[in-house]
Amino acid sequence: MSEILLQIDGREVEAKEGMTILEAARSAGIFIPTLCHHEKLEPYGACRICVVEADVGGRTSLVASCLYPVEKNLVVRTRSEKVDKTRKMILELLLAHAPDAPALQELVQQYGADKDRFEKESSFCVLCGLCVRYCTEVKKKNAIGFFDRGARREINFIPEIASRECWNCKECFPLCPTSYLQAAYHLTEALAFPSPSFLIRVRGTGNA
Ligand code: SF4
Ligand code: FES
Repeated sequence: MSEILLQIDGREVEAKEGMTILEAARSAGIFIPTLCHHEKLEPYGACRICVVEADVGGRTSLVASCLYPVEKNLVVRTRSEKVDKTRKMILELLLAHAPDAPALQELVQQYGADKDRFEKESSFCVLCGLCVRYCTEVKKKNAIGFFDRGARREINFIPEIASRECWNCKECFPLCPTSYLQAAYHLTEALAFPSPSFLIRVRGTGNA
């Protein structure tokens, strides 16, 4: 794999072909905030909090650093007036869903984001997709999925699979940047899982 030389925040950074800007920045110890990124998962590009400014051949654009591949002579700025302004607005949109999400609080301080800029949304899910993708890509269980489109898009547990697979896994819980995932699981468990007495009866029958 050939080496690529690029510039990030005024520093020369060496990266391997195929790396993203985020990976190159991290390898050089340069911090870029992320929300929907996870090293074990395919890049997704949902939250856009990792936005940076990239100059290629004299053209500057805002790109998602977790998706954008490095290239020769690329000049990247992880903080600029434009980046900070965009990141602040993205944060404010996320805060409309999850104003108290622990994962956002430090960034809220750093970028001076206003929790009340946008009208509050009824869902606490920011649709980062970490739970759905982790369950599919790492656990290969597909116990959670996305449903509906646009403003009605939401995640849901699939009761038939979740009742079988989730009780001794729950590895997705700590990935969720808001409190939504655990709440959704407990709601599904209460409404749609077979009752414990039913399971005991079924297991008892199976063992007989
Ligand atoms: S429930 Fe949590 S982890 Fe899943 S998509 Fe929503 S915010 Fe992301
Ligand atoms: S971390 Fe890049 S789009 Fe979410």
